[in-house]
Amino acid sequence: MDFQSSRSFAENLDTRDPLAPFRARFVITDPGLIYLDGNSLGRLTHASLERLQLVVEHEWGRDLIRGWNENWWEAPVRIGEKIARLVGAAPGQMVACDTVSVNLFKLAAAALALRPGRTHIVTDTLNFPSDLYILQGLVHSLGDHHTILRVGSRDGDVTPDLDELAAAIDDSTALLTLSHVTFKSGYLYEVAYVTELAHRHDALVIWDLSHSAGAVPVALDACNADFAIGCTYKYLNGGPGASAFLYVRKDLQERAVSPIWGWWGQNVPFAFGLDYTPATGVARFLTGSQPILSLLAMEAALDPLLEAGMESLRAKSILLSAYLIYLTDTLLAPLGFRLGSPRLPEQRGSHISLRHPEGYRINRALIEEMNVLPDFREPDNLRLGLTPLYTTFYEVWEGVDRIRRVMAEKRYEKYPAQRLIVT
Ligand SMILES: Cc1ncc(COP(=O)(O)O)c(C=O)c1O
Repeated sequence: MDFQSSRSFAENLDTRDPLAPFRARFVITDPGLIYLDGNSLGRLTHASLERLQLVVEHEWGRDLIRGWNENWWEAPVRIGEKIARLVGAAPGQMVACDTVSVNLFKLAAAALALRPGRTHIVTDTLNFPSDLYILQGLVHSLGDHHTILRVGSRDGDVTPDLDELAAAIDDSTALLTLSHVTFKSGYLYEVAYVTELAHRHDALVIWDLSHSAGAVPVALDACNADFAIGCTYKYLNGGPGASAFLYVRKDLQERAVSPIWGWWGQNVPFAFGLDYTPATGVARFLTGSQPILSLLAMEAALDPLLEAGMESLRAKSILLSAYLIYLTDTLLAPLGFRLGSPRLPEQRGSHISLRHPEGYRINRALIEEMNVLPDFREPDNLRLGLTPLYTTFYEVWEGVDRIRRVMAEKRYEKYPAQRLIVT
């Protein structure tokens, strides 16, 4: 599409947006706020708000312990099935539970145990650092018999070095684990191709879908993925700290062993037998009691995504990001910004990083005085999340215009370069 930089062009795109009605499903208390951080924390849906009120007042407040037999105990499995529909997984392979970090630990431990004698874990330098810490901790706890190889990146940390990745995987590789969409640049891996690279050497793969679930179509079953994890507080709009999810392909489930043997993953938990027997299927990867309020709020937030459909969401996401790149090239590049995300739509997820040496202080000025909420990732990435269910083209235009004003009026200069705890 041939874009233009006028405000009316953005407004016109909104009038033609088939997903525009979905914005009304979200609680929007400040129409002047330009929210570009749905890639960190999705907006609150009216459905979650109503569900939470019901759960707190009726299910917890009135029904008390009876809630477990009503709809609480089954929630991790039931909600896992719902998320599975958004990431191309057939029923019986996903549960919603714990955090991404804990789920990665469980699945990585299971994967290493399935490949005894193999000593290498392959990942990349673009991965979310917590994923690397989890791998390091796991290797340490297993006696330091494994080596973690971190494949490097190209183009100033925007894209991974796919040749180096292919060369790093061999018959000593037990596990390959990557973020499907990388957290800084938003690079989008091709799941089928990379999974096949690993499978050629009989290595297992764990995909971290935190930045892709709900933003990019994922086809776990069709790509023959082994394992996957992801969070629900970003594009799935589950709420702060909402439960993560994990996927174990059907044929791996009976052989894969969780390293954390809790009663929720036990075959008959209420028999209270003294020895652990794993539950059948993916439920064996559950551990202990789950945050029911948070789980049920998240469950309600999934409906708009299922109704919109991942193909429509992706089409709008690509248009939003292409438009943002156009505005960046036209209006922000002359002010010292450069694109920190892939230009090719098939290589990017749904957030865009703009790099600027003053990125941190610009981010502060946008938050403190311009009513724009992006976020910042070291060393110089101003990250702008584009959430197709509720981000408008006007918001993208207005956000860029406010960035332009911060620069023209040098508003960022009054902020210290010293980082706040959360950036
Ligand atoms: C790609 C990715 N992986 C893992 C995590 C960690 O998730 P959690 O805090 O649920 O362990 C995050 C958090 O933002 C993330 O973005």
